[in-house]
Amino acid sequence: MAKILIAYEVDVGRTQAAAGLLAEKMRSSGISVTIEHINKINDETDLAGYDAIVLGSPTVLGGMMPEINGFFTVAKKVDLESTVGGVFGTSEINEEGPKKAFDIMKNELKMEMVDEPLIIERHVSGGEINDCDDYAKKIVAKLN
Ligand SMILES: Cc1cc2nc3c(=O)[nH]c(=O)nc-3n(C[C@H](O)[C@H](O)[C@H](O)COP(=O)(O)O)c2cc1C
Repeated sequence: MAKILIAYEVDVGRTQAAAGLLAEKMRSSGISVTIEHINKINDETDLAGYDAIVLGSPTVLGGMMPEINGFFTVAKKVDLESTVGGVFGTSEINEEGPKKAFDIMKNELKMEMVDEPLIIERHVSGGEINDCDDYAKKIVAKLN
């Protein structure tokens, strides 16, 4: 069974809600999904054995939340070159946080990135739920 890690940081709650929706959709495809707060990713073993890693963060002050840097410090010690990668993020004005994370995962970690980042600019409801479903499907499809 394929295994996916969703690692996220959150300030208020939207990013966590999106993580839950993504996981729900992936699990309905028979995938094993682990959701972890970013502060649980502390060493290489925390990223081992996943077929895909999906990172989520709000945009704060034009970037990812600072805690995401800890994730990348660990990720850079692991060979993730054939691992599928995805990024999702919540924001209100701009999309810089997820885009920066996407670039690092694609260009520095050389991960097999899915599409563009999933950007959620409002509450996680209605169309945003459909967007999460579509993004989850794209990640699952990339595994096959
Ligand atoms: C201190 C702070 C700084 C923020 N900076 C930005 C920003 O630069 N660009 C943006 O689009 N949204 C910004 N936001 C809005 C958050 O990205 C948005 O509220 C997000 O959905 C919060 O995610 P969460 O509910 O998962 O914590 C900021 C929010 C806070 C509290």
